[in-house]
Amino acid sequence: MKYVIGVDLGTSSVKIILVNQLGEVTQEVSKFYPLIQEKVGYSEQKPDDWVEQTIAGLSELLKNFKGNPEDIEGLSFSGQMHGLVLLGENDEVLRNAILWNDTRTTKECEEINEQVGKERLLNITKNIALEGFTLPKILWVKNHELEIFTKAKSFVLPKDYVRLKLTGHLHMEYSDAAGTLLLDIADKAWSKEICELLDIDPEICPPLVDSYDKVGSIKAEIAEATGLSVSTKVFAGGADNACGAIGTGILEEGKTLVSTGTSGVVLSYEGNGDKEFEGKVHYFNHAVPKAFYTMGVTLAAGYSLSWFKNIFAKEINFDELLADVDSVPVGSNGLIFTPYIVGERTPHMDASIRGSFLGMDASHDIKQFARAVLEGITFSLNESVEILRENGKDIDTIVSIGGGAKNESWLQIQADIFNANILKMKSEEGPAMGAAMLAAYGCGWFNSLKECANEFLKVDKVYQPIPENVVKYKGLFAIYKKVYSSTRELNQQLIDYRK
Ligand code: XUL
Repeated sequence: MKYVIGVDLGTSSVKIILVNQLGEVTQEVSKFYPLIQEKVGYSEQKPDDWVEQTIAGLSELLKNFKGNPEDIEGLSFSGQMHGLVLLGENDEVLRNAILWNDTRTTKECEEINEQVGKERLLNITKNIALEGFTLPKILWVKNHELEIFTKAKSFVLPKDYVRLKLTGHLHMEYSDAAGTLLLDIADKAWSKEICELLDIDPEICPPLVDSYDKVGSIKAEIAEATGLSVSTKVFAGGADNACGAIGTGILEEGKTLVSTGTSGVVLSYEGNGDKEFEGKVHYFNHAVPKAFYTMGVTLAAGYSLSWFKNIFAKEINFDELLADVDSVPVGSNGLIFTPYIVGERTPHMDASIRGSFLGMDASHDIKQFARAVLEGITFSLNESVEILRENGKDIDTIVSIGGGAKNESWLQIQADIFNANILKMKSEEGPAMGAAMLAAYGCGWFNSLKECANEFLKVDKVYQPIPENVVKYKGLFAIYKKVYSSTRELNQQLIDYRK
């Protein structure tokens, strides 16, 4: 039997899966690394922590692998998007990576809008300047750490750095490059124009490849350290959201995905790159040949739930916290949560908004708060579903993955709030499976990723909307949407009190 490995470099951990030719996950390892949050709005990681933990994870996997390492034919990646890794002359890391959920760059976004112009930026990149994207981070280093910036010979995204360390070759692939705000997404080329307007040397942009391109093999010293074979082929991989889409079969028009990781996304397949969404949702290259996707992002999806548990219910685990949410009525007895604990992207694109619990009552207990958190996260995702529907997307079925797909009650809440059938996958590996599928396709096991999906992916269960809940949630969603405009000004006034 032959195998491939999918490495998903997430925000809190790296998850590595071993998949055989039947699409069965035969081994799985996760290794954690810390987040560095020195100030409000800052979010960094040490790139070498990613590499160390990936090597540790691969070693553990290989230690328990009974077959011949040469039977592991390919390896590919999925990665947290947008994070800036600046590299010097000898590909050495110049500073901590600044991550996708870091929001220090509001001024740099304004600079981009002024120098490039909002219209032109949208024309070229199909996206608007957002704090989370890579270009504002590059400008922040240029504006605040010029000494480091002048040493930079290139920049890469998180998984590209790990791949560089495993193979010795430096590349970036289109699905992640699309999230830098430096790529002309329709032409699949770096925008020299944007670089020039912002006085950035285009030479720092790395060579571009396709997600399923073979970019090298495992270096001898890495093979030595992990037990992998030097013959294992390494394929470029994709952005975690693109890989999540592949790993759930979002490979043709009409297919939509909801993924609740640290962030939450609503993602829909697009056959071409010249539609106009006016920046209301992100518009990126897919990791699939000649395809694109649109996506709305809730910055703190799973993160809102883990934040809530850590602050208010530390002594119990997630299963205990969510065990009774079904006994709480729709709407959590009048309690509404907005998950803006690190600002919000879609639809508000507002880094300074913060969350609220609205309607707190002396009778509310922990399970009512827990349900309100699940509902608030889902309402936020529903704002993205609404934008896609308003732009003509027919969304009657959605594949759900991530934390939100691990809990039956939450899956039903999704069906009721989205008013769509929710599909839960049999083996729910999300982005890691997408990465493994890119390797399987790259190795030539299948003629297309669709063929691979037909073989590897199976639906486990369908959750249908309950009409009376749909009606109740419609009313609550209208109230939820008003919380943003009602609290925006108050949150602005609170900025001075944030550390
Ligand atoms: C997408 C985004 C997040 C990260 C999480 O634009 O910022 O979903 O990809 O890893």
